Amino acid sequence: MVDVSKILNEALRECNDCADLDSLDQVRVKYLGKKGEITSLLKQLGKLSPAERPRVGNEINTAKTQLLLSVEEHRKILEKTFLDQSIADETIDVSLPGRGNSEGTIHPVNLALARIEEFFIGLGFDIGEGPEIESSDYNFTHLNIPEHHPARAMHDTFYFDDKLLLRTHTSPVQIRTMEKNKPPFKLIAPGKAYRCDSDLTHTPMFHQVEGFCVDKNVSFADLRSVLLDFFQFFFDKELELRMRPSYFPFTEPSAEVDISCVKCDGSGCRLCSHTGWIEVLGCGMVHPKVLSGVDVDPENYTGWAFGLGIDRLAMLRYSIDDLRSFFENDIRFLEQFIRN
Ligand code: FA5
Ligand code: MG
Repeated sequence: MVDVSKILNEALRECNDCADLDSLDQVRVKYLGKKGEITSLLKQLGKLSPAERPRVGNEINTAKTQLLLSVEEHRKILEKTFLDQSIADETIDVSLPGRGNSEGTIHPVNLALARIEEFFIGLGFDIGEGPEIESSDYNFTHLNIPEHHPARAMHDTFYFDDKLLLRTHTSPVQIRTMEKNKPPFKLIAPGKAYRCDSDLTHTPMFHQVEGFCVDKNVSFADLRSVLLDFFQFFFDKELELRMRPSYFPFTEPSAEVDISCVKCDGSGCRLCSHTGWIEVLGCGMVHPKVLSGVDVDPENYTGWAFGLGIDRLAMLRYSIDDLRSFFENDIRFLEQFIRN
């Protein structure tokens, strides 16, 4: 009969020499597999005399257990070594220099909006918002634009169905704010508006800021002075402001506001079509019907409101001549705006 301990020692040595899991498994199969050396020793037990069988059998089984334990132990060591190695390989060297990612810039429309908000927050206005998908009731009816009123046709509206549309202006936020709260109101509501319109100065999606102030003794003169202060703050220079009579169903009286051209200061240039003036917004005193519709008593309260196009103001401030460049996401264009 062969020397069991000799085979065991040889197997243990081979096991310890294994540098990876594959060769460890080969050692296991070589000794303990179906045709393995230790396994076949067990099969030969029958050839021994009955007296010898228990002792040798015991010796082989002990060797088998010992080798199995050793293989398992070594497997754990190898697994841990590989894990440690792969963790070490994946470590990020934080001391390496960066790849030079370029810094982002703020979109000119947002730069302009930040200036607008800064001014009105300074005057104690709140900032509100409303849904872009609006009902025709809020976009039109509650703003004193009943069905079949010609003013509905002035807005080239994107409709979903009879009732739902993409809001054509931010004015519905006036209604949504006033019907939920009690006066006084001092609020600006910036956001997106949509009209089926596209040329150098019109895009299908654009940005407006609604501003309104409803309280006791609010006058048209207040509106004018707030707007003048605002435009001088926004353009950072002295300006003239003029109001032309206009028409909005939700304000009475209504006005269109022009400022002296920010490029030529009123002497006439291409930007102002040689008129010296640039139209910047629509405004007026909130119509009594709009107030009573949201349970604000027009006998006690008055208010003004305006709606301006942020994109237009951004074009003027940053000397951009095509409105559409705001929405093309050309990095070379956007990178230029690093300050407001
Ligand atoms: C209105 O939308 C009124 N809701 C404004 C208002 C509010 C009046 C409160 C009275 C009281 P208007 O249609 O003129 O008015 O639009 C206001 C501004 O939005 C315009 O002066 C312009 O700057 C901007 N605007 C309108 N349509 C577009 C467009 N397609 N693309 C870019 N800007 C636009
Ligand atoms: Mg207009």
